[in-house]
Amino acid sequence: MSALAAALEGREVVVCAGPGGVGKTTSAAAIGLAMAARGRRVAVLTIDPARRLADSLGLEEIGGEERRVDPERLSAAGVEASGELWAAMLDAKRTWDELIERHAPDERTRDAVLGNRIYKELSSAVAGSQEYMAMEKLHELHAEGRYDLLVLDTPPTRNALDFLDAPERLSRFIDSRSLRLFLRGNRGSLKLLGRSSQALFAVLRRITGVDLLEDMAEFFHSFGGMSEGFERRAREVNALLADGARTTFVVVASPAEEAVDEAIFFRRRLRESGLPFGAAVVNRVHSAPGAMADPGLQGELVELVGENLARRVVRNDGDWRALAERDRLGLERLAAELEGELLVRVPDLDDDVHDLDGLVRVNEHLFASETTSRRRARLA
Ligand SMILES: Nc1ncnc2c1ncn2[C@@H]1O[C@H](COP(=O)(O)OP(=O)(O)OP(=O)(O)O)[C@@H](O)[C@H]1O
Ligand SMILES: [Mg+2]
Repeated sequence: MSALAAALEGREVVVCAGPGGVGKTTSAAAIGLAMAARGRRVAVLTIDPARRLADSLGLEEIGGEERRVDPERLSAAGVEASGELWAAMLDAKRTWDELIERHAPDERTRDAVLGNRIYKELSSAVAGSQEYMAMEKLHELHAEGRYDLLVLDTPPTRNALDFLDAPERLSRFIDSRSLRLFLRGNRGSLKLLGRSSQALFAVLRRITGVDLLEDMAEFFHSFGGMSEGFERRAREVNALLADGARTTFVVVASPAEEAVDEAIFFRRRLRESGLPFGAAVVNRVHSAPGAMADPGLQGELVELVGENLARRVVRNDGDWRALAERDRLGLERLAAELEGELLVRVPDLDDDVHDLDGLVRVNEHLFASETTSRRRARLA
């Protein structure tokens, strides 16, 4: 068994987190595919996958509903999955709406919240909202128990750590004093806003005909009744994520300097927060052929393709070597931080990874058995 498969063995939740643009979505999909091939019923919860990857997973539209990847498509890509691969595309606004629909005590409250201007702003704009909704979806699917394994992709946040704070931030918000004051819920409490904001709201009402104060009071009033549920679920998700027997975090990074910095920072945060770490995946690693450093070969090349082209080939080879050297240093730095914990390398492939064949190619590296990867390392 490969080292990564061993790290994921028996887990119910795998969270792929890390800096932006490094391959979190790709890794989540690839891990899902590999685990389905190992007989598990897997749901991959992706966030904003590239169009073509979404297509190849059979995800035509955002909607939060999981869809099964057609087994025939899997076998066409050479994957005989004895398990099942499902995928969903998470969308913050849509998940919020579903959440309100599910938890509102009655229709009137539901409509009041959904139609509310403050709610609309909050659900699509509040920072951390997307992260929070990923957590909600995770909670929902885990509670339903239809899948053996949930692989959670995380959103491209400038600060990858926002994700960890999202449930707590939302329950803090719901629990906050200012909100409690609103929840006592009459216009009187809105006086607390202070004269200047009241004047502003009054002007807005006159210009737009919209009573924002009314909206806010109504929103906080209706929303308040649901806050207990939010807090409970946030607590449960946190407990699930912290449970190393059920969950593991895979930190995805590239070998570039800033990405390695973020990965190191993230690894430390996991440790401080008592969250279980499974592996670091360093994606898109360049390795240098380096052959052109040999003057003999350069000579041969000139004879073969002429001086002009040969010079360009040599220069290009030099660029590659510089890139590979940068990657080597990045990997070394991350490995030092991990102190022997699992670090899996995936090379920069010739093409983008946008279909099942691409995911299969990624998996040849992600799930390479250790003897294979040692042999590869020797060959490199
Ligand atoms: N090993 C690889 N070789 C070549 N291309 C890759 C590799 N891994 C990922 N890619 C490509 O890199 C791009 C970014 O990958 P991906 O969308 O998975 O990153 P992400 O971390 O999810 O990004 P974001 O933070 O924006 O969500 C995609 O176009 C993907 O096809
Ligand atoms: Mg992504």
